[in-house]
Amino acid sequence: MSARRPLTVLITGSDGQLGQALRLRAAEARVAGLHWLPAPRRELDITDAAAVARWLDANPVGAVINTAAYTAVDRAETEPELAARVNAQGPRVLADACRARGIRLLQISTDYVFDGRKGAAYAETDVPNPLGVYGRTKLAGERAALSAPGAMVLRTGWVFSQFGHNFLKTMLRLGAERERLSVVADQIGGPTHAPAIAGALLRMLAPLAAGGTTPGGIYHYGGAPAVTWCEFAAAIFAAAGAQGLLARAPVLEPITAAAYGAAALRPADARLDCTKLAGLIGPLENDWRAGLAAALAALGRGSEAAPPDQTLASS
Ligand SMILES: NC(=O)c1ccc[n+]([C@@H]2O[C@H](COP(=O)([O-])OP(=O)(O)OC[C@H]3O[C@@H](n4cnc5c(N)ncnc54)[C@H](OP(=O)(O)O)[C@@H]3O)[C@@H](O)[C@H]2O)c1
Repeated sequence: MSARRPLTVLITGSDGQLGQALRLRAAEARVAGLHWLPAPRRELDITDAAAVARWLDANPVGAVINTAAYTAVDRAETEPELAARVNAQGPRVLADACRARGIRLLQISTDYVFDGRKGAAYAETDVPNPLGVYGRTKLAGERAALSAPGAMVLRTGWVFSQFGHNFLKTMLRLGAERERLSVVADQIGGPTHAPAIAGALLRMLAPLAAGGTTPGGIYHYGGAPAVTWCEFAAAIFAAAGAQGLLARAPVLEPITAAAYGAAALRPADARLDCTKLAGLIGPLENDWRAGLAAALAALGRGSEAAPPDQTLASS
């Protein structure tokens, strides 16, 4: 019996937070029959149709995970064209290229497509109603991606890790600088560990590598238990203190989102119901407290970037 060839998976935006988390799990992906082909922005701009075509024609790509995005939620309010170009037009380019070649597209999206007024965790069947430019452009990107046959959209939220820019790293920096810190306490969501999202993506694609199927459509993957930003900050300071990464925790002052006054409105309750995904891939590794401990341990080791040899490791 001959061994099945690995499924080559193009990872766009591979120097971003989730891209690096995927690269971290390259060895596990190989065991699952998946060969990551990372494409950082400097090598592949997803809005450039000719460049996308070149990559897909030069490599035996079976699936694309699009992690590339314009993620500056507040800045998007003053740069709507740029946000739309990356978040909506980019997935359109990828969807057209994937449709033409029979390639599966897995688009990453966000809880910010919802308005947060449901009062319960959002299911995939709930109607989106984004409050800001970022959410609107990401929703347009979802719709563009889903025009490719079998495309999947994975919505997530409040992503953190040792990689890139995120709330965890901002809190560690500000916590070391300041004695008091005001943090929003009237928005609730699920902090999500980027390497755990990578694990879920790996499990979504593994059946394809084994010659099976994974149904297309929208899936939700958010961290649990749900907390406010202020509660998350408190947990970060407690865990960082316990791991010796912070000499002294600042005094936390809970404030409202209105008082904080960010440029973009955000959903007050962004919880995601992940039942559908658990039905597809089995029990979810989505307890953010385990992810927080792992991220802090990585930061303690000084591991703030995925090693380059894992990027290019061949299977
Ligand atoms: N971070 C969160 O809290 C969060 C929450 C919900 C959903 N998401 C979604 O999760 C996905 C991954 O987010 P992330 O946290 O990994 O974001 P990130 O760290 O900002 O990474 C995004 C990557 O995309 C790259 N990029 C931007 N424009 C591009 C283009 N035209 N072509 C190719 N690459 C481009 C960026 O490059 P540059 O750095 O050079 O611009 C960056 O490397 C995104 O779809 C995001 O919308 C994130």
